[in-house]
Amino acid sequence: MSALRELKILAFVAIVVGILYWGVEPLAHSVFHPKTAPADFTFSDLEDLPTTGNVENGKALATSTCIACHSIEKDGFPALVTNELAASAYGVVPPDLSNIGAIYDGKFLANLIKNPVKTLKLTHKFNDSKPFPMTPTLVSDAELGDMVAYFKALAADANLSNKEIFTEACVRCHSIKYDNIKALTPSDTIANYLGAKAPDLSMMIRSRGQETLDKFINDPQKTLVNASMPRVGLTQDSQEKVIAYLESVGDSKKEQREFIGKILIGFMIILAILAYLWKRKIWHNLH
Ligand code: HEC
Ligand code: HEC
Repeated sequence: MSALRELKILAFVAIVVGILYWGVEPLAHSVFHPKTAPADFTFSDLEDLPTTGNVENGKALATSTCIACHSIEKDGFPALVTNELAASAYGVVPPDLSNIGAIYDGKFLANLIKNPVKTLKLTHKFNDSKPFPMTPTLVSDAELGDMVAYFKALAADANLSNKEIFTEACVRCHSIKYDNIKALTPSDTIANYLGAKAPDLSMMIRSRGQETLDKFINDPQKTLVNASMPRVGLTQDSQEKVIAYLESVGDSKKEQREFIGKILIGFMIILAILAYLWKRKIWHNLH
């Protein structure tokens, strides 16, 4: 067999594999997972409200309005009632606000304070006859900026771990069995409040994958029509950390697996080269 013929066969195999890998597989993937726009961390559907302003005035406003329902532990405002009471009063335990300036997007926060239901994309769940537990805070747009400025200043030195960000943003509703984390709100209470139970997230990274989670957390309605979960307005950085945490819990062997994969490929390449050299040697002797 001439070397040229072998080369032709090799080229043919390479082309077929190439078509399968770059052509057919992505096509099948796009059919089974229809493309949706990537996560939008500019929150372009929301109003452009101020996100900077007078910190002192923001503090005065926040510590006279928000603390009716929320604690701000870092500034000396503990929760007024137990989690149990809060859950039964509101349907879900309202989060502590000490670090919201670090984990949530500023524009999202200003819109949330002004119009919670629209900002959380829950207009299909709450209306005048079923009011949302977080009421709009009626202040001027400039004062919204003051409050966002205050929360940002309060959280300026937060430096939270991946797990802490997850805990602040998700654990009032979700549990992580594999990491012994129990949701602050009982799951039946959440079901009553939002119309669906919040699932345990231990293995979610495996069943949904990183890309789907990224879109879902940023805008649940985009991937799940009429989703019960509110939009969580995390910054891109915080969201990446939440997903990294979910990965560390649900897919803790990922690095090991990828490492073994690389060793295996290296092994196959060496084996292929040896097989080729061996074949050449035998054919050489036969000539
Ligand atoms: C009447 C009670 C009430 C008041 C007043 C209130 N909140 Fe809330 N807030 C809630 C409840 C209940 C939730 C939980 C809602 C949920 O997770 O579905 C919440 C959720 C939040 C969240 C989490 C949003 C998210 O994306 O997960 C933030 C941030 C927040 N509130 C900030 C504020 C700020 C800032 C103020 C004051 C300007 C304020 N809240 C005033 C009841 C209230
Ligand atoms: C106020 C409660 C609440 C908060 C806060 C919340 N979730 Fe959810 N989540 C839910 C509910 C309820 C569902 C079930 C949705 C449904 O069936 O419509 C859900 C579903 C999910 C799902 C499953 C989606 C699917 O494809 O089945 C994932 C993943 C998820 N949440 C991740 C998160 C993460 C990560 C956070 C924090 C950044 C978070 N959630 C914060 C209530 C919440």
